[in-house]
Amino acid sequence: MLSNLAVRDIETLVHPYTNLATHRQVGPLVIESGKGVFVTDSSGKDYIEGMAGLWCTALGFSNQELIETAYEQMKKLPFTHIFGGRSNDPAIELAEKLKEIAPVPISKVFYGASGSDANDTQVKMVWYMNNALGRPQKKKIISRLKGYHGVTVASASLTGLPNNHIDFDLPLPGILHTSCAHHYRFAEPGETELDFSSRLAAELEEMILREGPDTVAAFIAEPVMGAGGAITPPEGYFEKVNAILAKYDILFIADEVITGFGRTGEMFGTTTYGLAADTISCAKQITSAYFPLSAVMMNERVYEVLVDQSRKIGTFGHGNTYAGHPVGCAIAVKTLEIYKRDKIVEHVRSVAPTFLRRLNKLAEHPLVGEARGVGLIGAVELVQDKLTRASFEGKKGVGAKSVSFALEEGLIVRAMGDRVAFCPPMIITEAETEEMFDRYERALNKTLDWAKGEGLLAA
Ligand SMILES: Cc1ncc(COP(=O)(O)O)c(C=O)c1O
Repeated sequence: MLSNLAVRDIETLVHPYTNLATHRQVGPLVIESGKGVFVTDSSGKDYIEGMAGLWCTALGFSNQELIETAYEQMKKLPFTHIFGGRSNDPAIELAEKLKEIAPVPISKVFYGASGSDANDTQVKMVWYMNNALGRPQKKKIISRLKGYHGVTVASASLTGLPNNHIDFDLPLPGILHTSCAHHYRFAEPGETELDFSSRLAAELEEMILREGPDTVAAFIAEPVMGAGGAITPPEGYFEKVNAILAKYDILFIADEVITGFGRTGEMFGTTTYGLAADTISCAKQITSAYFPLSAVMMNERVYEVLVDQSRKIGTFGHGNTYAGHPVGCAIAVKTLEIYKRDKIVEHVRSVAPTFLRRLNKLAEHPLVGEARGVGLIGAVELVQDKLTRASFEGKKGVGAKSVSFALEEGLIVRAMGDRVAFCPPMIITEAETEEMFDRYERALNKTLDWAKGEGLLAA
């Protein structure tokens, strides 16, 4: 029996990333409140939020300092914009702080309201910049299969997942996808991580040469792939990619929307994996998701071109209403202050061994083919046959089934196909981490029983 709230939901909402037909039968999971790493649904059941919402509520669900900061800033100045040279104190302070902690030399910051619009800004900046530099043919952008960069027309084009393209008439022309750097799934038998990285780098170079280096403007990558399956890169991968991009004067856009601000055990994934980034997209943990805010950080080379071009045209004709929102920026400044004061990076590093030990231990389970992570992000891949790495048939929904058993056990995790991701709030304690994996182990055992009952396992 669906609750009254569920019926009202069904009659009013179109949910993102939801099977809209199934939703009409099963209804929503309504979350009503949160405390620390826990959230509570409308029936009063508690869950460990093992995904920090959507990889974002770094400081958990009840941070009073962020709430008070929002309230105080709302009282003082709930809105002002930064178009036409206007500004506000929190927007300036946040940009200063971002420049201080950026993993590569950053000259300026451009604000938006979502990871998607940050990546759209990146695409537009690259095009604008190459027009300004008098090389209008250098416009193509290379992204990766299974990369996730958002849902707007350009950022969904960058995304390398079929569901973001099918029937949306995407990707846009000029956006290309190179191979996915997932060793477990795509390496040849016996291929080492380093050899796999070399092969992928060679493929990238071939693509650039095939297209013509003077037509390729930029490459975009997440340090750790998120929605593609929480995939950490193979050894040596970014080092090899850096060298190729430098060789053909191709900008490196780092999408740090998930990895930014401590998630990998460094302030940025760019540092963890040595990306030679020219520009960086940030969002999510920048405010611990207490306000929608994104930022594009750019180096001096990119900024100078924008200045020259706007001198010529008369303006930099881009930006949205909420750019530099004083409440969002004040919350972000406070968030960064808390990260520093409470040594969040050190905290992630201190809990990571427990997180990774328990994650890696899942690899012993009969259903788990791969378990791998870094810092406080990782995933398991459920397979039909551990020896051959054969996947389950997609429509059997084995990953999704394990997620629904996890919900029964009081844990929220996310299935991306048969990869199940863990990305808890970064404030999680060791004891809560143990509890999170205890709950998932019980869910996996139920999944195994179910899969056996359905006859899904290899004989
Ligand atoms: C790496 C990455 N880039 C971009 C985005 C898009 O961000 P948003 O959903 O805020 O538009 C996401 C969202 O999950 C992401 O994980």
